[in-house]
Amino acid sequence: MTNQLDTKSQAWSALFSEPMSELVKRYTASVFFDKRLWQADIAGSLAHAEMLAAQGIISAQDLADIQRGMAQIAQDIESGAFEWKLDLEDVHLNIEARLTQLVGDAGKRLHTGRSRNDQVATDVRLWLRGETDLIIALLADLQKSLVEVAEQNVEVILPGFTHLQVAQPVSFGHHLLAYVEMFSRDAERFADVRRRTNRLPLGSAALAGTTYPLDRERVARTLGMVDAQGQPQVCQNSLDGVSDRDFAIEFAAAASLCMVHISRFSEELILWMSQNFGFVKIADRFTTGSSIMPQKKNPDVPELARGKTGRVVGHLMGLITLMKGQPLAYNKDNQEDKEPLFDTVDTLKDTLRIFSEMVGGQVNPATGQKEGGITVNAQAMEEAAKKGYATATDLADYLVKKGLPFRDAHETVAHAVKAAASQGCDLSQLPLPALQGFHAAIEGDVYDVLSLRGSLNARATLGGTAPEQVRAQIARHRTRLA
Ligand code: ARG
Repeated sequence: MTNQLDTKSQAWSALFSEPMSELVKRYTASVFFDKRLWQADIAGSLAHAEMLAAQGIISAQDLADIQRGMAQIAQDIESGAFEWKLDLEDVHLNIEARLTQLVGDAGKRLHTGRSRNDQVATDVRLWLRGETDLIIALLADLQKSLVEVAEQNVEVILPGFTHLQVAQPVSFGHHLLAYVEMFSRDAERFADVRRRTNRLPLGSAALAGTTYPLDRERVARTLGMVDAQGQPQVCQNSLDGVSDRDFAIEFAAAASLCMVHISRFSEELILWMSQNFGFVKIADRFTTGSSIMPQKKNPDVPELARGKTGRVVGHLMGLITLMKGQPLAYNKDNQEDKEPLFDTVDTLKDTLRIFSEMVGGQVNPATGQKEGGITVNAQAMEEAAKKGYATATDLADYLVKKGLPFRDAHETVAHAVKAAASQGCDLSQLPLPALQGFHAAIEGDVYDVLSLRGSLNARATLGGTAPEQVRAQIARHRTRLA
């Protein structure tokens, strides 16, 4: 019978009297997905080794050997020359085994005062911190694209809907800025999750801490795990340090909400692109044709983004369920955190990149101008806003200003709408005597409030759709995003 020690393939071998079956090996191994953590793994190991040397736990020579070996390993992984072995289970054991092969005993000393439990928790945090920073930057790009298009469309009017029924006219710029608000809150959420992600588990060891005189704060500083004041951020309870994955769940929740916002926007793009609306076009490179219907141009990208929202929300469910019922401290269940987390990051980053370009276009290097963003059909939007009595509330407000209680004004306008509908015309097309038939207080100036533009201009409260308000919001966003 093969003893695992002889094959030197596993880290704990002497106790075991039979090798793992191939199926179990595949079932328990994570290297084919967690190798993605290699940079974080090496960074964590180097910070740990540097601290071990500073504390006199390993020699300066050991540290130099470890640094030399790790530099080689990093080079090999980057060039593709590194041989990942399923037998070595995960990224941590693969790198450590190779290190020992390269530098001998120093490699075997690296794991002093450390366990894979605090090692993996550190790696995931370091990796996710970097990805979170990228996502925050991508969210800023998307917001900038939206603000640019909003700025070009402050005066463009489309019907605002409630219940998907025409409600009141709104500025298309205002409509887009609603999404800027959502994405700015998403960015805030990611920044907040980052604070709790950026804390150091290393030094928790397997679960209870370690007997070596480690300087955990030094390691935290080396890895940039510090707060805004530069104070090192270290997990304060070893049991929690190795087993907490809240940060990953919070991240997935922030990602889910962000995808939900993307999905809502996608749904609107899809509606707006349909022939029945005809409000916008997106560039051909974000659409596909049909294999049977020659006339089709389908909004595949927004549809897929809407669909991928389900996938990301699913990952949140997977991660949160994974944690449910786990006793302290580390359990192998936690190895299952990686694939959902990786896929969440990949899906969100790709989606944000595509949406920034789909909305705002791409810089043409010849002109320095952005091209190929969404095309707005202002006329179709305005035509649609003229249907559905979008200015009925304005007529009610007009009557209130003439002294009617709002409820009575509401009732009066309902009669006017009914009459206009039966004549197949808009309120603004009813002649003055007809309007006066509904209330004597109505005068010639009523037509100002019945126009789309009058209605828009009148909603000048903070956060309202009046162009002056929309411009003020654009200026605020521009300063914030600069
Ligand atoms: N691959 C493992 C994970 O991702 C590393 C930690 C393994 N620890 C252990 N005690 N088996 O969680």
